[in-house]
Amino acid sequence: MAAAPRLGVDYYPEQWPRDRWELDARLMADAGLTVVRIAEFAWSRLEPRPGVFELAWLDEVIGILASAGLEVILGTPTAAPPAWLIEQHPEILPVRADGRVQKFGHRRHYCPNQPAMLAASDRIVRALAERFGADERVSAWQIDNELGGRCYCDTCQTAFQHWLADRYESLPVLNEVWGTVFWSQEYTAWDQIPLPEDAPAPTSSAFGFGRNAPNPGLALDFRRFSSDSLIRFLERQARVLRESCDARQRVTHNLMGFHFSEIDYHALGAEVDVVAWSNYPVLDTSRRWTNPALSADAMRGLKQAPIWVLEQQVGPLGWQLVRSPRMGEFRLLSWQAIAHGAELLCYFRWRTARYGTEQHWHGILDANARVGRKYDELRALAAELDSVRDVLDGARPSADVALLHDYDSRFALQVQPTNPALPYEETVHGHYEALRRLGLGVDVLGLAADLSRYRLVVAPSLYVMDESAAAVLAAYVRGGGVLVLAPRAGMKDRCNAVPERPLPAWLDELVGLEVTDFMSVAPEDGARIGGALDGRLHGWYEQVEPTTATMLASYVDGPFAGMPAITERAAGEGTAVYVAGAADAATLGALYALLAARGGLQVLELPPDVEAVPLVREDCDLLVLLNHSDEERVVQLDAGERRVHVGNGGDGNALPIEPLGVVLIERAASQRTARSAVADANA
Ligand code: GAL
Ligand code: ZN
Repeated sequence: MAAAPRLGVDYYPEQWPRDRWELDARLMADAGLTVVRIAEFAWSRLEPRPGVFELAWLDEVIGILASAGLEVILGTPTAAPPAWLIEQHPEILPVRADGRVQKFGHRRHYCPNQPAMLAASDRIVRALAERFGADERVSAWQIDNELGGRCYCDTCQTAFQHWLADRYESLPVLNEVWGTVFWSQEYTAWDQIPLPEDAPAPTSSAFGFGRNAPNPGLALDFRRFSSDSLIRFLERQARVLRESCDARQRVTHNLMGFHFSEIDYHALGAEVDVVAWSNYPVLDTSRRWTNPALSADAMRGLKQAPIWVLEQQVGPLGWQLVRSPRMGEFRLLSWQAIAHGAELLCYFRWRTARYGTEQHWHGILDANARVGRKYDELRALAAELDSVRDVLDGARPSADVALLHDYDSRFALQVQPTNPALPYEETVHGHYEALRRLGLGVDVLGLAADLSRYRLVVAPSLYVMDESAAAVLAAYVRGGGVLVLAPRAGMKDRCNAVPERPLPAWLDELVGLEVTDFMSVAPEDGARIGGALDGRLHGWYEQVEPTTATMLASYVDGPFAGMPAITERAAGEGTAVYVAGAADAATLGALYALLAARGGLQVLELPPDVEAVPLVREDCDLLVLLNHSDEERVVQLDAGERRVHVGNGGDGNALPIEPLGVVLIERAASQRTARSAVADANA
């Protein structure tokens, strides 16, 4: 259960004069903030010379914040190694795929496998932990900042070879599973194994040729290794912190949401006490609300627990070019993050920087210290949240649907996306959007999660498969679940080789069919489908031969006309559905409307750009309605008692929501069962 949401801010006291700190702290507290994250890039001020620590100023800031009633999250500063460290150990600088060494002068300029970096990281983190690990004013630690990057230095190459030796134990095994006989790539010594050239396959609509495309097994393992390297770097800091810190101080890291794809976040999530992330919706406005919603759900799914947003956008942002959020969007995006499971939002940043790369990444106060609209909006939001504290306390997002997210499949499809209509992120996003457009609650989970309580499990592009994952999915279906497998499931084994089995490998029996042929064409080309639902598959579409499956929809035109395009098969108590291609939004919308109606899942008819997030508390259901459009929208709700806590109650069934508006409704839990029963009866 999530605690009632709290608000905080990211503060860089070292960038401002000492005589400003008290006023800042007072302004923060007056706005209703209770948490401040500090110190995440302050290495050069915390350890100005090797082994010489200056922590008194940090202690003083913490004291000033604490006196104002603010609790502190301390960042470890390792994302910004100071100049003296690079001068002493230039080998710390990471090497890019083209062999270029990244210079000092930005941030994240370190290789996570360099012994000198690890030693320096241990030292600064230990110094901080020993000083503040028992400090009651400090409630949590954020390790580093937004880990990411792949390094191609010699140290990483050797580390990769050792990593492979651990994984495969013998070279003949590695040669076999990677199929290195292809192009005479067989290795006779571990140190012959290279780092793959970085040749991202083309994903635009132009089908190009991947230059220097590496062995797919090598390329997949390098992605796993690079992800592991960063996770081990984090885990090492977590160990140093836990040695000296009270267990009360929680260890976290700010991840980058669903769209960042260099780290297996399921594995990273296991190393932190709480998952936190950075939320900047205005960076990509092409998917106004579904991008941040999907990210929040994916982050919440890592531990299936409430999350923190340690960087929540507050104002205009950009590095060289700047984009403003819409007037009033600040509140809407904050409510969205909360509805999706955040129990803490720290706004980035307190005051716009006067210097440095982020002069245009606007904070709550302007660079010249002006207190204006953004501050007022923040204070109003804090007051509004306070007024519904009891309503939100203990509430959490509710979901009958699980969407599966698998990093092996994602990494393998990065190596060979196969068709411009099939990028992993797009496919997952397409299914997610279709589900959320129906107002369904969705949890985004890894394959290791317990699926048994979900009525519907959607597994887009489970491209990499194995026997045990397939067994988990089969057990879910036999136990009464509805599983949707969308295209290219079971195309590869865990080593990124093509299995010598009927496709979709390991899943063919479950879905009751075999994929025997396909068309891979320009993403705008495709085939129409019709039957229990009408729609279209495009870019990539398959010929499937049912063994035990029956047709939900068949191809209406194209080379596979008359053959099945969407199938279903009853297995045990449940059903396995197969979608034989990349489906557009309308097709997925129709499919999920059909499955929801059959399964008695309550759907809403939502106007465009209105998001509905169902929440549940022990004693009641809650619904958050978010109007992401610039016009008033009216949502039709079923009759029945409802209490409106935020927004305008509307008239009868019609509930109007103002542009960028928010509505929070409470409904008795008993209605939930009643409605499902009605839906069941009508199905
Ligand atoms: C985040 C990062 C912050 C800040 C912000 C704005 O990704 O964690 O430190 O850089 O972006 O650029
Ligand atoms: Zn390296």
